[in-house]
Amino acid sequence: MRLLITGGAGFIGSNFIRYIINKYPDYKITNLDALTYAGNLENLKDFEDNPNYKFVKGDICDRDLVNNLVKDVDIIVHFAAESHVDRSILDSQAFVVTNVIGTQVLLDSAKEFGTRFHHVSTDEVFGSLGPDDPGFNEETPYDPRSPYSASKAASDHLVRAYYHTHNLPITISNCSNNYGPCMFPEKVIPLFITNLFENKKVPLYGDGMNIRDWIHVDDHNRGVDLIIHKGKIGETYCLGGNNELTNKDLTFKILQAVGRGEEMIEHVEDRAGHDKRYAIDFSKIKNELGWEPEISFEDGLKEMVKWYKDNYEWVKNCKSGEYKEYYKRQYNI
Ligand code: NAD
Ligand code: DAU
Repeated sequence: MRLLITGGAGFIGSNFIRYIINKYPDYKITNLDALTYAGNLENLKDFEDNPNYKFVKGDICDRDLVNNLVKDVDIIVHFAAESHVDRSILDSQAFVVTNVIGTQVLLDSAKEFGTRFHHVSTDEVFGSLGPDDPGFNEETPYDPRSPYSASKAASDHLVRAYYHTHNLPITISNCSNNYGPCMFPEKVIPLFITNLFENKKVPLYGDGMNIRDWIHVDDHNRGVDLIIHKGKIGETYCLGGNNELTNKDLTFKILQAVGRGEEMIEHVEDRAGHDKRYAIDFSKIKNELGWEPEISFEDGLKEMVKWYKDNYEWVKNCKSGEYKEYYKRQYNI
């Protein structure tokens, strides 16, 4: 199989490429990535010389480049995106350009060459749950509330529109909060781990009672692998970790894993429009494809702390400085 993977230098995409190369060594992979602040070729440096792996630096909005790559592949697995909610609150333009227009360019190209398209999306398109609401599932109405989730919702709608209008062979996955190695240290888990390594406090938004459902990136990618091989065309699949935690409890677990105490928590102003709770009912993919998450949060977090300790050069080199400066200005951390 020949795959075009977009955003393969980022967190989830690079873990996906690693997973696919290890599981299917004869597959041919092209990784198209613009290397924004979040893209890092270090994530895949051990595959640089692999004859079945090729990196192309470029923008998914570049029609000619995209057409040139899509004509030679069997499937597009689309991870590339602007992915950080806080950045979308500061400035949403890049989110609309990459997440909406970039997806549309890829879809046009897939339409031209009749290429199978898998779209990697998020549970945030469904909005925010109350404490007793059942988890999101494939029937949950869309209710995006941040500029990031609005741009991902728009891209999901476009993908479905190309299926209904043009018979494009698509699938979509909506997943909850991932964690694991190579995660850019602006997202809460790696931000907190690396702050603690640097003896800095961890900025907990609001009352810390917002809830996220955490899934290990390898569990997510195993689900995407199943969907691209066995998923039903035109269908959406929700993936979750069965692991809801308040941000406060998450922070305690990180403090414990790094060996620090509660005095390292700095309570800071809440995120604007902060979604209260995400949770996923993943029974569809469990019943149809036999998928469920396998990695326990305790094991995954322990492994992640070790990875950040062992790869501290990666942290220093991954352009996180600019974002940490923002925290310094904002919260004096
Ligand atoms: P990331 O920010 O770590 O990586 C995004 C990658 O896309 C980077 O390598 C970046 O260089 C690349 N990119 C950005 N704009 C581009 C453009 N215009 N052209 C080409 N490449 C471009 O993101 P991530 O956390 O790995 O997320 C990957 C995908 O998974 C996204 O679509 C995101 O919405 C989705 N998702 C993320 C999570 C999560 O918890 N991180 C959960 C569910 C779904
Ligand atoms: O649910 C899936 C989504 O999860 C993905 O689509 C997004 O790409 C990904 O970034 C993630 O979004 P979140 O906004 O949930 O992740 P983040 O790590 O930014 O924040 C997780 C929670 O932690 C959220 O409730 C806000 C809180 N938080 C975050 C940061 C960065 C803090 O309390 N302090 C912080 O400094």
